[in-house]
Amino acid sequence: MPTVFLTGANRGIGLGFAKVYLDAGWQVIAAVRNPDAAGDLKALGVDHGDRLSIHKVDLADSNSIDALATELKGTTIDILLGNAAKTDNPMDEFGSTNYDAWAEAFQVNCMGQMKMAEAFVEHVAASDQKKMFFVSSRIGAKPPAGLILFRTSKSALNQVVMQLSLILGPRGIAVACGHPGFVKSKSTLDMGVFEAEESAGYLKKIIDDLTVETAGQFFDPDGSTLPIVTRQMNPTAFGAKAPDAWDDQAKKREDGNAT
Ligand SMILES: NC(=O)c1ccc[n+]([C@@H]2O[C@H](COP(=O)([O-])OP(=O)(O)OC[C@H]3O[C@@H](n4cnc5c(N)ncnc54)[C@H](OP(=O)(O)O)[C@@H]3O)[C@@H](O)[C@H]2O)c1
Repeated sequence: MPTVFLTGANRGIGLGFAKVYLDAGWQVIAAVRNPDAAGDLKALGVDHGDRLSIHKVDLADSNSIDALATELKGTTIDILLGNAAKTDNPMDEFGSTNYDAWAEAFQVNCMGQMKMAEAFVEHVAASDQKKMFFVSSRIGAKPPAGLILFRTSKSALNQVVMQLSLILGPRGIAVACGHPGFVKSKSTLDMGVFEAEESAGYLKKIIDDLTVETAGQFFDPDGSTLPIVTRQMNPTAFGAKAPDAWDDQAKKREDGNAT
C-alpha cells in the first residue's frame, strides 16, 4: 500500500487530497498545524481510520519539521505532497509593503517547502515511487500587478522545485509542481471553479504519471505544462562569458555526476 505524506490536510485542497488518496486505498500521513482543530480531517478517519494518521507541523518552524521527520524515521514515503501555504497575506500597496508578512510568506511557501524536502528525502528515497510534488500557483508566473507577497513566494517555490528536480533526479526522485486551478476554499473566499476534491483528483493523476523524465515541470490541472523558470543551459550573458566552472557543474548535475 503506497503512502502519501501531505501538508495542510485539515482544509481546502489539502482536505480534498486526503479524501482522494484515502478513497484510492493509500496510506495517508496528514500533517497539520493544529491537530486538535482538524475536525473535518478526523471525520475522514471514521471510514479510513487505519490508513490515516495525523501529525503536527508548522512550516514556519524548521525545528517542528525536523521533529516530525525524526518521529517518522523508518517510515517510507512514496509521495511528499507540499500543499500547505500561507494564503492569508495582507494586500500589498506600493509604498507600504509589509516586509514582516512578506518574510513569513517566503518562510512558509518557499523555505519551508525546501526544508520539508531536506528533512524527508531519505523517507522518500527508501520508497517505491520516490516523488515530491509541490502545489504552486499560476500567480507566481504571471501578471497582473499586485499580490506581490504571495506571488513572489510561489515564483521562488518554482525555482526551488526546479533545483530539487536537478539535485534529486540522479537519486531517482522525481520532483515537480502544479497549479490546482481556481478552487473553492478559504483562500479564495469559497469562490472558484473547482471543488477541492475535484482539483485534488486532477493533481493526483499528474502525480501518478510523474517520472524522473517528466520532473522539473510546472503542471496545469489538465496535465499540460506552464513555464516554470527559464532554463538557460548556455547562459552566456551579454558582454561576458559565463564561467566555465559554473557550466560544468550544472552539466554534471544534469548528468548525475555532480560532486
Ligand atoms: N484555492 C485556489 O484557487 C488556489 C489557487 C492557486 C494555488 N493554490 C495553492 O493550493 C494550496 C492549497 O490552497 P487552499 O486554497 O486549500 O488554501 P487554504 O484553504 O488557505 O489552506 C491552506 C492550508 O495551509 C496550511 N498552512 C498555512 N500556514 C501553515 C504553516 N505555517 N504550517 C503548516 N500549514 C500551514 C493551513 O493550515 P491552518 O488551517 O492551520 O491555517 C491550511 O491547511 C496552496 O499551496 C495554495 O497556494 C490554491
